[in-house]
Amino acid sequence: MRIGVDYYPEHWDKSLWAADADLMQKTGVKLVRLAEFAWCRLEPREGVFTFEWLDEAVNLFAARGIDVVLCTPTSCPPLWLYEKHPDAVMVEKDGTPTRTGIRGHRCINHEAVRFHCQRMIEKMTQHYAENKAVAAWQIDNELEAYFCFCETCNAKFREWLKTKYGTLAALNKAYGNVVWSGEYSSWEQIQPPYGHYPDAWLNPAFMLDYARFASDNVIDFANWQAEIIRKNCPGLPVTTNVWFCGHMPDFYKEFKNLDFISYDNYPTTKLPDNPEECYTHAFHLDMMRGVKRAPFWVMEQLSGGMGCWAPMARMPEPGMIKGYGLQAFAHGADTVVFFRWRTANIGAEMHWHGLIDHSNVPGRRFHEFAELCKAAETLQNVQGADNRADVAILLSFDNEFAFKIQPQTNGYYYLEQLQRLHAAFAALGLNVDIIGQHESLEGYRIVCAPEMYVTDEGVVQRLHDFAAQGGTVILTTRSGVKDEHNNAIMAQLPTVYRDMVGAYATEYAPIGYDSVALHFTDGTKAEGKQWCDVLEAEGAEVMASFDGEFFKGKAAVTRNAYGSGKVYYIATVGNQALYHHLAHGAAEEAGIAVISGLPPQVEITTRTGSGAVTRFIFNNSGREQSFMLDGETLTLAPFEMHITTKEV
Ligand code: GAL
Repeated sequence: MRIGVDYYPEHWDKSLWAADADLMQKTGVKLVRLAEFAWCRLEPREGVFTFEWLDEAVNLFAARGIDVVLCTPTSCPPLWLYEKHPDAVMVEKDGTPTRTGIRGHRCINHEAVRFHCQRMIEKMTQHYAENKAVAAWQIDNELEAYFCFCETCNAKFREWLKTKYGTLAALNKAYGNVVWSGEYSSWEQIQPPYGHYPDAWLNPAFMLDYARFASDNVIDFANWQAEIIRKNCPGLPVTTNVWFCGHMPDFYKEFKNLDFISYDNYPTTKLPDNPEECYTHAFHLDMMRGVKRAPFWVMEQLSGGMGCWAPMARMPEPGMIKGYGLQAFAHGADTVVFFRWRTANIGAEMHWHGLIDHSNVPGRRFHEFAELCKAAETLQNVQGADNRADVAILLSFDNEFAFKIQPQTNGYYYLEQLQRLHAAFAALGLNVDIIGQHESLEGYRIVCAPEMYVTDEGVVQRLHDFAAQGGTVILTTRSGVKDEHNNAIMAQLPTVYRDMVGAYATEYAPIGYDSVALHFTDGTKAEGKQWCDVLEAEGAEVMASFDGEFFKGKAAVTRNAYGSGKVYYIATVGNQALYHHLAHGAAEEAGIAVISGLPPQVEITTRTGSGAVTRFIFNNSGREQSFMLDGETLTLAPFEMHITTKEV
């Protein structure tokens, strides 16, 4: 397993470089990421390329056996480009061009941006094509599916629609444009979502397509860059780094043509006081592994207290730097690169702490990092190993987009049920996969399909087949609500899933921030929040009922036999107790061996490969925890990871 750091030679006086590289080598750093924001030093004037300084840095690392990841610096074109092409910036909804002066202002479709990006990538990849120290290429930095309202993007959107719908009649029908006399009679009438009201007034069918377009747009930019890189550097893996931002592109599509996924991993340094609160960090890591269903990289890993556009957060507690690095390995990362080697003494991010503080005196966090580097070396047998899972959770970016377009009720958040189901199965000591909804379900015993809101017929069929053939499917409220265009389906909910659920909703109750008590037939108590379906069972067994509101006594959780499998339906958004109870029962019923009684915040995952199973037992809490495992008492310090390997 490999540990790396993000390093910015262009930010530091040259006199520091060699000492930094020496310390990296001594500490066990194997990889350095470079240059993602360095365009103004790589092409200081148009057409003048200056790779010498970067060569010098790369050579320093290579001489010490440290590989490099080079980045295309395309998120920060230099100011001369904007001076020459003032319209090369993104345009806001109200028509205002983005102001330069920060980063990421460029419109990725602007002709001049494409021209200069292409030339920069060609020059850079030609220059480093033969350099053996280059281990991979990173495209841009944290590409987000922003909406840009410039005329180039608007024209591209119209072309995207022409390709998708062919005729205006088909487009008008798909969007229901007759509402408010919005029918298009020429392609030129199509505008991006300007609207002079809040976005909520815009047509949801149109908005879903616009979100899909914005995502495709960024994916097109990434694929275009990958092609240029591969021309000169065939065989070198290409990635881009992602994070959980407000404008996530569809990661499943984004990484189809890229070689591996890399993720920017900043777990919170302040854990929730209530361990029942939905804490989702392991969820994000499992989600990353699921994007390509393969080991992944962390390209930026928490190194210190975060803060720059926000007040400074807590420093990582003792144990977090090492523990969170190992936690990433436990969930499927093979390489973890820390952001950043040293805290910046200049620029906007000088309070986003690196491993070493402003003083340049290595301290507590750095010493822990050094321990992590040593630990990583002992885990070579885990490289490439697989987190085999019996349980999968399906995720859909159409749903992510659609729920943002029409928030269902106060406090409703698409990923919450996915995260709570994940937490519930993880609490049983199980690996949990989070995969795209279009993936094959083969090999799983339980598939959770929460909030299948925007309907994809292929997915509906696969879930039916999976249950019919003996699998367990867990469905939830807000499923089968919309067709593929984001228009409401005219049938009783959960519409396309009704036959497998064996129940239907006669009405529903968005209860927002209120909650309603419920109990399972065995007396276990839980709560429903935000949304409740008022269900009528038609064959399904009622496993839990609501205790209040006008639907008191109605089913809150059902189970139905479908073919040779089982289908559970959760008619609300539960508190964690609901998912714990349900997951335990469903896992046992499906014959999955679980570990009962793990204390909260203890995570167990396994990676299997090279004839061995490695088990990672992580105390993701700030207190010592003791518990029984395999007949013995195990005591773990705060954030301690206990690792065992068994030959198979
Ligand atoms: C990441 C980004 C880095 C840096 C870091 C800390 O999201 O990729 O460039 O900005 O956050 O702020």
